[in-house]
Amino acid sequence: MPKITLLPHPEICPEGAVVEADPSKSVCENLLDNNIFVEHACEMSCACTTCHVVVTEGFDTLEESSDDEEDMLDKAWGLEQRSRLSCQLRNLTNDITIEFPRYTINMVSEIHPGQERTVENKQNSLQRDDFIVSGSAVNHLSKMIESNPGSCGIRISLKDSGCSGFAYDLNYVKEKDPSDYHGNFSGINVYIKDTSLIFLRGTELDFIQDGVNQNLVFKNPNVENECGCGESFTFSNKPYAELK
Ligand code: FES
Repeated sequence: MPKITLLPHPEICPEGAVVEADPSKSVCENLLDNNIFVEHACEMSCACTTCHVVVTEGFDTLEESSDDEEDMLDKAWGLEQRSRLSCQLRNLTNDITIEFPRYTINMVSEIHPGQERTVENKQNSLQRDDFIVSGSAVNHLSKMIESNPGSCGIRISLKDSGCSGFAYDLNYVKEKDPSDYHGNFSGINVYIKDTSLIFLRGTELDFIQDGVNQNLVFKNPNVENECGCGESFTFSNKPYAELK
């Protein structure tokens, strides 16, 4: 049987893995059969991109992709020339090596029966390229948290906003949600809802004072359009916005 070699991925298989593939099943199914959690938000119907993989070896031995798969791949985060949807990859004849794009997998946090993600198998620490908090924002958040006894941090998520699309939602954290991403910024705990992180990656949270005005400001590189009042916005990557 052909083998599927997985390159290490911090959340899915930190050590990498090699599995024997049943050619009658898709690559996605083979991985799931081997307890390797690969997202499959559309239940493998070629209607999402969450099972996106990059085939680094053996790409030329694969069956050609269908038009549907090509159309869907156009919407994938981190598209590369050797990208494929693992749920559409069948009939392997040769060994292949695949790599999971980091961002795709974090996009939708579905829990599938028998495959619940746990805190232990999800490394949900914020990295520097995920989110940063400026010194002035740390000072401001620190005062906010101090003024709310019992709070252990701030939780950031996105909510629908009628005006233009999304708005930021900030709340005090009294009880941590284990699925949240967590970062400690100079002693301030910031939690980000797991499904919101994809839209917040690369954001700097800053605190700006301009005369009598002062505001927490999200400098989010993923935002494309803001409404006139600046309260809500849309994202540049529409396929991801559609998954809100
Ligand atoms: S699981 Fe949705 S396209 Fe593969």
